[in-house]
Amino acid sequence: MRVLSGIQTTGRPHWGNYFGAIRQWIELQEGNDAYYFIANLHALTTIRDRDLLRALTLDSAIDLLALGLNPERATLFVQSDVPEVSELCWLLMTGAPMGLLERCHAYKDKKSRGLSADVGLFAYPVLMAADILAYDADTVPVGEDQLQHIEVCRDLAGAFNHRFGDVFVMPKAKIMDASARVPGTDGEKMSKSYGNTLEVFEDPRVQRKKIMRIKTDSRPMEQAKEPKQDVLFNLYRLVGTAEESEAIASLYRRGGFGYGEIKKELAEAAERFFAESRERRREMEADLEKVRQILGDGASRARQAARQVLHRAQDACGVRW
Ligand code: TRP
Repeated sequence: MRVLSGIQTTGRPHWGNYFGAIRQWIELQEGNDAYYFIANLHALTTIRDRDLLRALTLDSAIDLLALGLNPERATLFVQSDVPEVSELCWLLMTGAPMGLLERCHAYKDKKSRGLSADVGLFAYPVLMAADILAYDADTVPVGEDQLQHIEVCRDLAGAFNHRFGDVFVMPKAKIMDASARVPGTDGEKMSKSYGNTLEVFEDPRVQRKKIMRIKTDSRPMEQAKEPKQDVLFNLYRLVGTAEESEAIASLYRRGGFGYGEIKKELAEAAERFFAESRERRREMEADLEKVRQILGDGASRARQAARQVLHRAQDACGVRW
């Protein structure tokens, strides 16, 4: 399978980002032909600070590499390093119905709040379609919130193929699971906008403090409890081994344990779980040249693939003559 996905960076990854998305991408690099990119052109629709955008672009690449993305298996690149995608975007835009894009949620939400939107936000799904179609991707692992965009992509590809011949591969979304199941420190879904995150790369001492502050229920200690209903356990099972999680679960079912102890175990398990990635991140921060080299290699591989598709599309619609 040709797998492709883009990450629009919003800063430091938290457990929800990792368990809900990044880890699943990394698993998909095995046995598939995977393309992953940092969607900096999409980010430009909201980030208008040059230094911040540049820093976030590099940071996201480092995060992915540190968390196990293997550049010898997957092609990792920065979206703007492949200008073919922007050209393809225009070809798609000429046949993209206004009505279809008016229904897309990012644009619609902004309008409904009475705010004025930029063309970039309006056309966001078309650029995303170009991203996907440029690499003949057949599988696009995304969160549920992106499903609408994949539908738009399929519509645009279908319309182009119908008009001009068989140019584009029809992609399918692969909805990633579990993102909703990572609870934040307040028990709600973990999300940056709720301020309830545990970050993947934060200082273990800071993380421990956050964990110690998690509110626990006030039932008597002796009472037996169902582990799956508790935030601490639901976080623990993500970072503990199966045996460790089972041991903790039986404490809950037996009762008579203290949450302080579980919190300590959780903080330690989290530190162990991310230790290797944290170390890899440190190494890469000290060797940015290597990161740039990886992104450069990724971009040339990606361009090669995208150029072929762009030429196919240009031939089909008559702008290559
Ligand atoms: N819009 C996606 C997000 O915010 C990021 C993205 C851009 C993407 N281009 C893509 C995802 C192409 C999948 C395929 O998550």
